[in-house]
Amino acid sequence: MLYELCIDEKAMTNIAVFASGTGSNAVNLVKAFNSGNRIHVALCLTDKENAPVIEKMKDLGVETLFFPRSVWKEQPQVILDTLRSHDIKIIALAGFLCFLSDEIVNAYEGKILNIHPSLLPAYGGKGMHGANVHKAVIEAGETKSGATVHIVTNEIDAGPIVVQKEVAVLPDDTPESLEAKVHDVEYIAFPEAVLKLVTSLTPPAVPKSVDDAWADALGVPNNVPPIPLQQPVKTEPAPVAARQEPMPDTFLVWSVITTILCCFIPGIVAIINSAKVSSKYYEGDMEGAKRASRNAEIWIIVSFVLGVITNTLYIPLSIAGLF
Ligand code: GAR
Repeated sequence: MLYELCIDEKAMTNIAVFASGTGSNAVNLVKAFNSGNRIHVALCLTDKENAPVIEKMKDLGVETLFFPRSVWKEQPQVILDTLRSHDIKIIALAGFLCFLSDEIVNAYEGKILNIHPSLLPAYGGKGMHGANVHKAVIEAGETKSGATVHIVTNEIDAGPIVVQKEVAVLPDDTPESLEAKVHDVEYIAFPEAVLKLVTSLTPPAVPKSVDDAWADALGVPNNVPPIPLQQPVKTEPAPVAARQEPMPDTFLVWSVITTILCCFIPGIVAIINSAKVSSKYYEGDMEGAKRASRNAEIWIIVSFVLGVITNTLYIPLSIAGLF
């Protein structure tokens, strides 16, 4: 049975962690997500009755259930029902050493992540887990190893890689020291991969088509092709690159002086253009700002020249008694 696994962009996404051992990755996921409001480790399942992860998860307030291997193998429906009753959307395998049945993998296709302590595809497959991997890496004289988080498919350790992080293997490294280094990068890689998966499964907030909106409102199926709604035009802030050139001269002071002392009308035109320089500049319109600066300069000259002509004519004419 396939569950409805669509992720709602506003709702909390519940994840389940499956673990068989110490559970440091499981604990890390709880610490990474459970104080936020987007992703919640809501359930931990284990196949080991006395696994240390059980107490740790209980201490963190995460419901933790043990199912024997026979249930995992022969009654996968019991596991799926448990996941469904907790509204689990994503599963994270954090050192889970039990075989996952096809029913579970298929029901959560593309939504199960596994963390593996090597740079997959190297050192993956049957028998390659935990300390065995680090031992094999050291024995092979590798100079690097790491952690891989991948999507679980029906083939062991072979699904698409979501996040991979490297560590250096030094000549004096032991399987234990390498394990500690790999764990450190796992604590970064696993939350990153969970977040990536949740984000990739969350539908973008696109406006509904007119037909979908009507079909929703009327409660009827919509079989006609959708008519996309017009996306609102976004006014972007001025691009930083556009502001990297200095602002052209506004000539505001000269505009005001020539307006008062020379000729009024061209002076006002000069002031308007001076004011436009800064507004165009901060809108990111560098060409417009340069044009306004040039215009301001031209109208200052016009105002000045007209002012000189009028004053030159005014003085002799006033002496001659015509004014
Ligand atoms: C982790 O290193 C994980 O990569 C590995 O088991 C360890 C569990 O540690 N998983 C595998 O080997 C799976 N093939 P933890 O219990 O401290 O999280």
